[in-house]
Amino acid sequence: MDFFEYRNGELFAEGVPVRRIAREVGTPTYVYSLATLRRHYRVFDRAFMQLPHLICFSVKSNSNLAVLRVFSREGAGFDIVSGGELYRVLKAGGDPKKVVFSGVGKKREEIERALDAGILMFNVESEQELNLLNEIARGVGRKAPISLRVNPDVDPETHPYISTGLKRSKFGIDIKRSVEEYKRALSLSHIEVIGVACHIGSQLTSVLPFTDALSRVSVVVQNLREQGAWIRYLDLGGGLGIRYKDEDPPHPEEYASALIRALEGLNVTLILEPGRVIVGNAGIFITQVLYLKETDEKMFVVVDGAMNDLIRPALYGSYQAIQPVVVSQEERIVADVVGPVCESGDFFAKDREIPRPRQGDYLAVMSAGAYGFTMASNYNSRPRAAEILVDERDYHVIRERETLEDLISGERIPPALQ
Ligand code: LLP
Repeated sequence: MDFFEYRNGELFAEGVPVRRIAREVGTPTYVYSLATLRRHYRVFDRAFMQLPHLICFSVKSNSNLAVLRVFSREGAGFDIVSGGELYRVLKAGGDPKKVVFSGVGKKREEIERALDAGILMFNVESEQELNLLNEIARGVGRKAPISLRVNPDVDPETHPYISTGLKRSKFGIDIKRSVEEYKRALSLSHIEVIGVACHIGSQLTSVLPFTDALSRVSVVVQNLREQGAWIRYLDLGGGLGIRYKDEDPPHPEEYASALIRALEGLNVTLILEPGRVIVGNAGIFITQVLYLKETDEKMFVVVDGAMNDLIRPALYGSYQAIQPVVVSQEERIVADVVGPVCESGDFFAKDREIPRPRQGDYLAVMSAGAYGFTMASNYNSRPRAAEILVDERDYHVIRERETLEDLISGERIPPALQ
C-alpha cells in the first residue's frame, strides 16, 4: 500500500496535490512519500520479528540523504557497494556497525575507509579481494569481519541484467569452491569469518528461488560450524519484487514466513538487503508534456523527462505505469511516451494506451522510487532532476534541481587552450 491516490481526479502524494509540486518546483522531479517509506520499512522489518535479524537497506536503490535518514531513524542498517555509499550512510547518520559491504570491485581506499569506520562485515567476492583485505587489516592491526558471498547457482527467473546468482555471473564465489576459500579465510591472521552471504537477483516475484538459495547456503553455514567457525550471520541479500504492472510478488510476510521456516534450528542472525520493495512504490517521477507529435505511423508524447533521468524502460525495456497528474480527458490514445534525448531508446513507454494529454499537462511515471534517481546521469548535458519528500501536508526539497553551473563543475580548459 502506498500514499499516492486520486482525489476528485487529481493525484495526491499524501496530503499534497502533485500538481502543486510540479508548478512550484518545476519538472522533471522525483516525489517520495515519507509515510510510504516508513510503512514499507516497518512492514518488512516486522515480518521478521520472531527472528534475530537486521534489515540493511540497499543504498543503490535510493541514496538520497533524507531517505537514508528515514531508515537510520527506524534502526535500519545499510547494504553498500562503494566508498561513496559509505560516505552517504555516515552523512545521513547511519550506524557503521550495521553496514555490510558487497561488490566485486572494492578498491583499496574503499576497504580502508570501511575498516576504519568499523562496519559490520565485508561480503568478499574473490580470493584476491580476501588477500587484500587481510593485508590492509594487518596494516592497521585489526581483524576484518567477513562473509564470503557465495553464488548458490539458482535461477531467480528475472531479467538477465539483474539476475546475479547463476554460475556464469561475475558475482560471488561458486558455492562448491567456497568450501576451500572459507578454509583459507579461516587460516588468515587478520580475517574474522562471521557469516555467509548471497544475493541471487532483483525483482523476484516468487519465494522459491529464495528458499532454494537459503537451503543451499545453510549447508555452508553448518559445514563451517563443524569446522569450528563461529558463524553468526546469514545474509540472504535483497531482491524481493514489487508490482509495476500485473506482477504478483509475495507480500513481505509471506516471504518472511517462508524464510523463517527454511531457517529453523540454524540459529543465525538473518541479514536482508532489500531495496526496491521498500522504496520502489514510495516514489513517482513527474514530467511535463512538451509536444504531441503525430507521424503517419505513430503518435508521440514528448515529455521533459528522459532516459537520463529514469533509465529503466530504456535499459531493461521495463514497464512503468504512466498516469495523468490531473484527470481531464475521456479520449484515449495509443502513443510512445518519449524524452528529448537524442537516442531512439529514450522512451518511458511504447504503444501505450493513455488518456490524451494536452501540451503542458503533467504526467506521473509510477513506481519510480527505486533505481530512478540513483541511475540518473547528465547525458545530453541535462541537469539532474529535483527530489522532493512529502510529509503529510508539507513537502521538502531534498535535492535541488541541478543548475547549468553544476553541469560543468570540475571541468577545466588547459592553459594552452585559453
Ligand atoms: N544486495 C545486493 C548485493 C544487490 O546487488 C542488490 C541489487 C540488492 C541487495 C538490492 O536488491 P533489490 O532488493 O533492490 O532487488 N537497476 C536494476 C536493479 C539492479 C539491482 C542490483 N542489485 C533495476 O532498475 O531493476
